[in-house]
Formats: sequence, structure tokens, C-alpha cells
Amino acid sequence: MNIIDLQNITVFQGRNKILDNFSLTIDESQSTVILGPNGSGKTTILKLLNRELYIVEDKESSLKIFEKDRWNVDDLRSNLGVVSQHLQHGYSNSALGLYVVLSGFYSSDGIWQHQKFDEKKLNRAKEVMDLLSISELQEREFSSMSTGEQRKFLLARSLVNDPAVLVFDEPTSGLDMSTCFQYLEIIRELISMGKKVILVTHHIHEIPPEVTRVILLKEGKVVEDGDKDKVLNDASLTNLFDWPIKVIKENGYYQVIPG
Ligand SMILES: Nc1ncnc2c1ncn2[C@@H]1O[C@H](COP(=O)(O)OP(=O)(O)O)[C@@H](O)[C@H]1O
Ligand SMILES: [Mg+2]
Repeated sequence: MNIIDLQNITVFQGRNKILDNFSLTIDESQSTVILGPNGSGKTTILKLLNRELYIVEDKESSLKIFEKDRWNVDDLRSNLGVVSQHLQHGYSNSALGLYVVLSGFYSSDGIWQHQKFDEKKLNRAKEVMDLLSISELQEREFSSMSTGEQRKFLLARSLVNDPAVLVFDEPTSGLDMSTCFQYLEIIRELISMGKKVILVTHHIHEIPPEVTRVILLKEGKVVEDGDKDKVLNDASLTNLFDWPIKVIKENGYYQVIPG
């Protein structure tokens, strides 16, 4: 089963053509990372999945998610959870933690604290907060949480729908070392629970060992695609980032230093 199947698509952001006759297929046989420098088009691809951007309609082009080209947003959310601190979210910064999580059940219309939630939804929100050990913060305003706490609430927001696939945009950027490692452990646990992950990033260190396919994206084009062991090498990353790079591998993780 293909998670996403993009064929010959063209996408504009403002007046800029970001993706031009772009094709990419990601199936659910493994977890995958799309790795590319700033501006290579990573977030643009996520916005397509999140229905925040649309392709230029053309006979040759298609955008399928789980083999379907039409989705209603509710069904899509329960299959594909996009976790991003940059994409628009349907709640305000003053929302309490619990409501941030509950907002995952609804589209970006936003939620209101006087709104009633059925018990099933409340229980599911609590279950997910327990899983991520954030229950004690449910009464806190989102804006008053640390970056790491906010990150976990955004993840919980996606997890309430129990999607089979989770998509992360730079999941650990801005987190200190231990918070980063803790968050990576959470992602690894979710993979071990059977979730498939699509990671989008320029940080090599945040690729969990369980992510085995690497797609290198540069200036809106796939320049390499294959097994992590093969793709993450000095020459490929030097070419990708236009800077001499040396790759170091340890315990299934990768790091880079200047070449
Ligand atoms: N709203 C926008 N209007 C015009 N250009 C944009 C907009 N958003 C992004 N871009 C451009 O699209 C390209 C890809 O951006 P993006 O997908 O955010 O890259 P990445 O996530 O890989 O850093 C960049 O050149 C960026 O300048
Ligand atoms: Mg981005």
C-alpha cells in the first residue's frame, strides 16, 4: 500500500514554482526520511499532505494518499497524522493542554473550551497524554509550556486519531539534548508499536535507527533514494548540502562533521 504517491505534480508557493513535474512514492513497508537543505521543498510536500497547498491541475499529474485521490479531512486525519510546529494549527496559544490534544479530533476550525466533548474523546485524549507522560500539564496554557512540552502536546494532538502513519517535520529542532533524545525514544516506541513514520528534516542526528529509507531532496528534486546505509555517505551529503561533509555512524544513529 502506498502512503503517498505523487506523480508529475507542480506546486507554487506565491509566485515561486517549488515543485516542477515532481514524482515521489512512499509505501508503508518501512519508515522513511526526506532529507534536504533549507528551502529544498520539504515543508511544501507536507503542506500538500495536509491539504494546505494544492497542485496545479493537469492531465498528467496526480496526488494520491493511501491510493485515493479524494479525501475528506476527517478520514485523512485518522490515517495520516502530521506533526509539525510550523503548520497552522486550529487552536490559539492560550488553549489549555487538554484542548490542544482534543483539537486533534477536529479540523482547523478551532475548538472552544465551553464545547462539550464526549467521554470517548476525553478518554482517548487522557490515554494519549498518559502515554506521553504529559497528563499533569493538561491544565497549562500552551503558550506557557516549554518547547519540549509543546512538542509532546502537538504529537498527542495527532495521536488521538490513532493514525497508522505519522509525519514529522523537524521533530527535534529547538530541543535541548536530553529532550531531543527523549523525543526520539518516543518516536522509536511509536514505530515499535507498529506506526510507520515519515520524517522530513535537515538534521541527520534526528533520524531514528528504525527509519531505513532515505530520500535526498535538493531544490525541489529527488537526487537520491534508497537504503539509509547506502545513501548517507560523505559524497552524497557533500553534494546535497554543497559543503564538504563527513558522516559518522554509531549505534544506528548518524552524525556529521565538516569534511
Ligand atoms: N509562502 C511562500 N511564498 C513564496 N515562496 C515560498 C513560500 N513558502 C516557501 N516558499 C519557498 O519555497 C521553497 C521551499 O520551501 P519549503 O518547502 O519551506 O522548504 P524546506 O521545508 O525544505 O526548508 C523555498 O525556496 C521557499 O523560499
Ligand atoms: Mg521546512
